[in-house]
Order: sequence, then C-alpha cells, then structure tokens
Amino acid sequence: MSTAIAVLGDFESSGQPVELQALAGVSALTPMFGDSSEGTGRANVIVSSGATFGMVGESPAMRRVLDRVARVAPTGATVLVTGETGTGKELVARAIHAGSPRAKRPFVRVNCGALAEGVVASELFGHERGSFTGALERRKGRFELANGGTIFLDEVAELPPAQQIALLRVLQEGEFERVGGTETLKTDARVVAATNRNLDEAVREGRFRSDLLFRLNVFPVAMPSLRERKGDVALIAGHYARQYATKLGKRIRGVSPSAMEALVAYPWPGNIRELQNLVERAVILARGEVLELADFELPGPAIPHSDAEPADERQSIEAALRAARGRVYGPDGAAESLGTAPSTLDSRIRRLGIDKLAFRAGRRN
Ligand SMILES: Nc1ncnc2c1ncn2[C@@H]1O[C@H](COP(=O)(O)OP(=O)(O)OP(=O)(O)O)[C@@H](O)[C@H]1O
Ligand SMILES: [Mg+2]
Repeated sequence: MSTAIAVLGDFESSGQPVELQALAGVSALTPMFGDSSEGTGRANVIVSSGATFGMVGESPAMRRVLDRVARVAPTGATVLVTGETGTGKELVARAIHAGSPRAKRPFVRVNCGALAEGVVASELFGHERGSFTGALERRKGRFELANGGTIFLDEVAELPPAQQIALLRVLQEGEFERVGGTETLKTDARVVAATNRNLDEAVREGRFRSDLLFRLNVFPVAMPSLRERKGDVALIAGHYARQYATKLGKRIRGVSPSAMEALVAYPWPGNIRELQNLVERAVILARGEVLELADFELPGPAIPHSDAEPADERQSIEAALRAARGRVYGPDGAAESLGTAPSTLDSRIRRLGIDKLAFRAGRRN
C-alpha cells in the first residue's frame, strides 16, 4: 500500500483533512541530481519548482519508470518514451538529458506534430542560403544545434515519410545534409523520442517505417496512466497544492477527505496535467485553508454514462458514499458531490447492488 493511501486512510477515519505536510512528494530521481538523502535511505523531498524535473510518485509503476530513467540517462542510448497525453513524457525526456554527461549542453525540443510538412526538413537539418524562396540566410537545423546535447523528437509518429528516412540515416550514421546543401554533416546528438500513438499499429498501417521504429526503440520507457497508479494521486495533488499555494500566497493546510476520495476515484483522462490544472483551480477557489470537493470542479457528470466502464461507475459512487458516510440526500450527501439528482443516484445504487448502509459507520473502506 502506498504512503499516500495509508495517510489518506488515517485521516479519513478521523474525518480530518488530509494534511499537505503528510503528503510530501518524493522522487527516486532526486539523487540523480545530487541531492542528499540525509541518511533517511530515501530520496529527498522535492521542493516544488520547475527546475527540479520533479517527478512525484511512489507507486510501483512509477518506481519502475524512475528506475529505468536513472539507468538509461547516463548512457547515450536512444530512448522512446510512450504514454497517454499528460503522463510526463517530456518531463522524462528532460530528466534523461539532465542525468546524462550531456546535461550542460543543449536540450533541443522539436514538436514533429506542429511543423508544416514543407518545413520539417529545414527545421531538423537546416538549409543553405537560397535553397528555397525565403531562405535568405544559411540556417542551422535542430540536429546541428543539439550537437553534443540531446534532441527531443516529440510526437515522432507525425514525422512525414521523407523525414523518417532522413532520421533513420542520422540514427544509423550520424549524418545528414542541409536542405539545398551538398556537404554531408555529422552530428553527435542523443535522440529521445516521444509519442502518444501506438507505433506498432502505425507500422502495420504503413504510416511509420518499421526500421525506424526498431532504431528508436532501443530503450523503451512506457509511462503509466494516472489511472494505473491511483496511489500517486494524493501525493501529486499535495505536491501541486503546496506549489500553487506558495505561488498565490495562500495558506492551504490540506485537502478534505471527500475531495481526496473523489480525486482518487476520478479516471483522469488528461492524466497528471489534468490533475495539476484542477489543483491550481482549487487553490484559486479555496475560501478556507482546506481544499473542498467543490473547489476542484471535477468534470461532470461524475457518474459515467452507460457506455462507460461499469467498474468506474461503481468506483465513483462508492467513493462518494464513503465520503458521505453512506448518505445520498442532503447538502453533504453523495448525490450532491457527484452532481446528480438523489433519486437518480438511488436507482443506480440499487441497479449496481451497492449496499449504501455499509458505508454508514465507515464499515467499508
Ligand atoms: N510524476 C510527475 N510528478 C509531478 N508532475 C508531473 C509528473 N509527470 C508529469 N507532471 C507534470 O504534468 C504536466 C504534463 O507533463 P508532460 O508535458 O511531460 O506530459 P506529456 O506526456 O509530454 O503530455 P503530452 O502527450 O500531452 O505532450 C507537466 O506540467 C509536468 O510537469
Ligand atoms: Mg509532451
């Protein structure tokens, strides 16, 4: 059981808010950046700041990722980071660079999905003066700029076919030519690529070269979705609550048990980015020192429609009942927190065969 849930459990039974103090985000990556663990045998608490590449998480899934990142970082190996939107792919790419001997050299990011097809080659490899209309100067490409450092090819699945071939050549020979150029240039840029697409599928559909996938996939890092590591929700929420409270000059002491229950139950389609944004909003909206369920404005309807996973529906209803100690009706009832009519909720509870009385004395946890 993760610390976060243990902490949550403790506070839940007392009905007290989950104290931010108890939710210190720790990161297995911290030692990589030279922080001492002060003899605790654990990594140091990350002080919230964009500069630490703070990857918060203690779940087994996250620990596996952090371990792989720490091991591959110092090597020069090509890394392919995959995962849903908002799972931390870019954070991992930056951590790999920061944990490598190339840390003091440039980290150059290219969003392959945001470039128009006609400019991809020139962006990646540069161009010679006069190579096309508007090419008034010779210009270095990102591979040249990243020489000695790391090039981060974000949304690599969107790379047009011609550039897939050129990239394959860079990966194999370290060679390329500028657009309109004849000189063959060498680059020593470490490649980290990322995608939220299924590249095997793209290969099957003929949209992505299998030899390129093979070259990129030297060391795969698959980011878990937040749904797969719910034990980290409380830690990450605490991390960002502290960060935004400091930024906004507000005193925030904790998160109410019902809010924390709902955060853990929510399926987080936007993953950590979505959690981060909702916590920022909650800190802005908070009237007191405790972040309440209403402050989070979780996207509704909190009860999924019938096409959604029945397991999710059951989970969110049970979480709401637990927080409301089995009450459906009233201002603190489960219907209110789920944003649904009490009669509708009652019929769903019956349909799912949930025993709401079991939540009354906190008998079910
Ligand atoms: N483990 C983590 N702990 C704390 N914050 C995190 C963690 N992982 C990601 N974040 C934060 O979540 C946000 C999204 O992360 P990032 O941009 O790396 O995701 P991504 O996978 O590249 O998303 P996309 O596919 O949409 O580009 C960032 O603000 C990042 O700082
Ligand atoms: Mg990204």
